[in-house]
Amino acid sequence: MRVLGIETSCDETGIALYDSEEGLLAHRLYSQVNLHAQFGGVVPELASRDHIQRLIPLIKEVVNAAKINLRDIDGIAYTAGPGLVGALLVGAVVGASLGLALNVPTIAVNHMEGHLVAPMLEDNPPKFPLVALLVSGGHTMLVKVEDFGVYEILGESLDDAAGEAFDKVAKMLHLGYPGGPALARLAELGNAKRFVFPRPMTNRPGLDFSFSGLKTFALNTLCENGDDDQTRADIAYAFQEAVVDALLIKCKRALLKTGFNQLIVAGGVSANKMLRTKLGNLEEEQIKIFYPRLEFCTDNGAMIAYAGCQRLLRGEQNASYAVKVLARWSLTEISN
Ligand code: KG4
Ligand code: ZN
Repeated sequence: MRVLGIETSCDETGIALYDSEEGLLAHRLYSQVNLHAQFGGVVPELASRDHIQRLIPLIKEVVNAAKINLRDIDGIAYTAGPGLVGALLVGAVVGASLGLALNVPTIAVNHMEGHLVAPMLEDNPPKFPLVALLVSGGHTMLVKVEDFGVYEILGESLDDAAGEAFDKVAKMLHLGYPGGPALARLAELGNAKRFVFPRPMTNRPGLDFSFSGLKTFALNTLCENGDDDQTRADIAYAFQEAVVDALLIKCKRALLKTGFNQLIVAGGVSANKMLRTKLGNLEEEQIKIFYPRLEFCTDNGAMIAYAGCQRLLRGEQNASYAVKVLARWSLTEISN
């Protein structure tokens, strides 16, 4: 089955063609980073308008790159949430229209399920069951995954998502948008010993996270120590290490609780080097860790095409070509 994936939940237009027999045929991404950078964050209305402009040319490019015809597509998967409603609507309307025109089934895909299955596009993918740590700009959660589509959220952030905290602290350190990768680069110049930030919610049981206190801690540290280059780098280091340690501690707990020995780490923050290095220590405890390739850590069309294909193969499809998108849509709601 050949599925076209459409991702427009935030500030990237992602298109891909996935074939259940041949794997990923082609994919393209247009990032709106430059568009939003001047505003210091994503402007939803501008995001929607840009998706409108990029979507059709990108679909044409991907179909050409895959050397197929539009008529060779067997199904269309589009992100229907969670995300920015206006941005989601653009992808959903184009997906539903194309499905109607080609007379093929469409499927609404949950963006977080997309992130979760992104490592399945790599060689030697994990086999279920497993634990998934999803760390993106909008969500941070640990999920017990019995099988594709069978999800139990073990813990999640009670306030900011990890990526969101990275972005906000990056702004504080004058790093602009998007802040995560810039903060990680600055941290490489930081002195590891100068500041120690708390590891939030790690000295009590449970698998939930909280990152907003670290933001305040970073701001106070900045005010008390002066806003010079070295201090900013030292804060970046201490902040990053605190987030990474909190994630690592909770991953260990989730693996212990489930008894599973495979961990998927996906979403934008899974690109973080320090996170990958520290999680690597789990391999000594016979835990196997699976990441998406770097370009599929952040939003992309390939993960949506893959997730949609799995659902279509199971006989699921949208009941009609009516368009419905959801700003909030928990993995619990799609679990079966
Ligand atoms: O998954 P994603 O592309 O979008 C959402 O679904 O939210 O994740 C974007 C988030 C941003 O907050 C960005 O700052 C963060 O991922 N991010 C990183 C890194 N690369 C992206 N955070 C820390 N270190 C990185 N290397
Ligand atoms: Zn995402």
